[in-house]
Amino acid sequence: MGLVARTLERVKPSPTMAITSKAREMKAAGFDVIGLGAGEPDFDTPDNIKQAAIDGIPELKQAISEKFARENGLDYKPNEITVGSGGKHVLYNALLATLDPGDEVVIPSPYWVSYPDIVLLSGAEPVVVETKLEDGFKLTPETLEQAITPKTKWFIFNSPSNPTGAAYTRDEIKALTDVLLRHERVWVLSDDIYEHLVYDDFKFTTPAQIEPKLKARTLTLNGVSKAYSMTGWRIGYAGGPAELIKAIGKLQSQSTSNPCSISQWAAVEALRGPQDFLKDWVKSFQERRDLVVSMLNQASGLSCPTPEGAFYVYPSCAGCIGKTTPKGQTIGNDEDFATALLQEEGVAVVHGAAFGLSPFFRISYATGMEALEEACRRIQRFCASLS
Ligand SMILES: Cc1ncc(COP(=O)(O)O)c(C=O)c1O
Repeated sequence: MGLVARTLERVKPSPTMAITSKAREMKAAGFDVIGLGAGEPDFDTPDNIKQAAIDGIPELKQAISEKFARENGLDYKPNEITVGSGGKHVLYNALLATLDPGDEVVIPSPYWVSYPDIVLLSGAEPVVVETKLEDGFKLTPETLEQAITPKTKWFIFNSPSNPTGAAYTRDEIKALTDVLLRHERVWVLSDDIYEHLVYDDFKFTTPAQIEPKLKARTLTLNGVSKAYSMTGWRIGYAGGPAELIKAIGKLQSQSTSNPCSISQWAAVEALRGPQDFLKDWVKSFQERRDLVVSMLNQASGLSCPTPEGAFYVYPSCAGCIGKTTPKGQTIGNDEDFATALLQEEGVAVVHGAAFGLSPFFRISYATGMEALEEACRRIQRFCASLS
């Protein structure tokens, strides 16, 4: 009998982290690499938040309860709130606490890389349903309906999305919640972590807010990593029915207990402190998005839709597939495209297959304008060099 659990063989290490560390290694070896692989804002955590981490007592669940009421019109009492060491940890706890082998979890693709692998770790089955570029990478109610079976336990919903940046309007969410209302045993996990990063006056909404009848079987997940540039502080949270929150608490009591109290303090300040800096960040992100979308659409063989939110674009590289680099390498798929782009031009992006939809790639534009402009120039040069 081997030491490592068989379930661990069902998953692969995170491909986005693999590309980020490859880019870091190449940089350390002296290559001129621009990393567009990692999904971390490049801003510094605001000073008031850093200051609050130094003293004080945690009232984080209260602050989260107030946040849900203020920003989402959702009433979650402190016993309906769980706090973990990052959104990923809360997601992990929620799935591990509820899934049994044989259960199914519906995940629209392209998806954030951790969803299917955490489902696999639990012993359940991810049911991946593809979205289409023509639909703005958004799931249609018909596709959702077809994916649900008597074994479906969860539907994972992520808007704005990592990796596409697609965000669902109120009407688009309502169309999906109407389907979910008909399937009383299906739970909804809404990953709202990019809530504040929406552009062009887009109005963010979340399923439990749009369809109150679903709230009793919805987990509304969020965190401070993206909106407050606090990725390293590791605070994520979720609101849901007390029974689910209690099960999550039981699992967490046997692993991390609670997230670091210093980080909890900082998160209290993040949620209760001034929010006005967000306007400037959103403006910067929107400028970067517009630059990247426009420059990528000028690259031959690429086609890049304009996403509503997050800090990612997900261009199609269909027009480059089958072509050859000047060194004679054939671009057979999006992974070849990303590998050759890194080798030839030192630009690190993540291939679409990692997110379950090809032939695309993901660019994280959470980096400065100058680097983005240079990276896009290199991408244009790379695409022009293909024949
Ligand atoms: C869609 C999505 N959900 C959740 C997370 C988790 O973030 P954290 O664990 O830093 O809170 C991420 C991070 O990349 C993400 O992209």
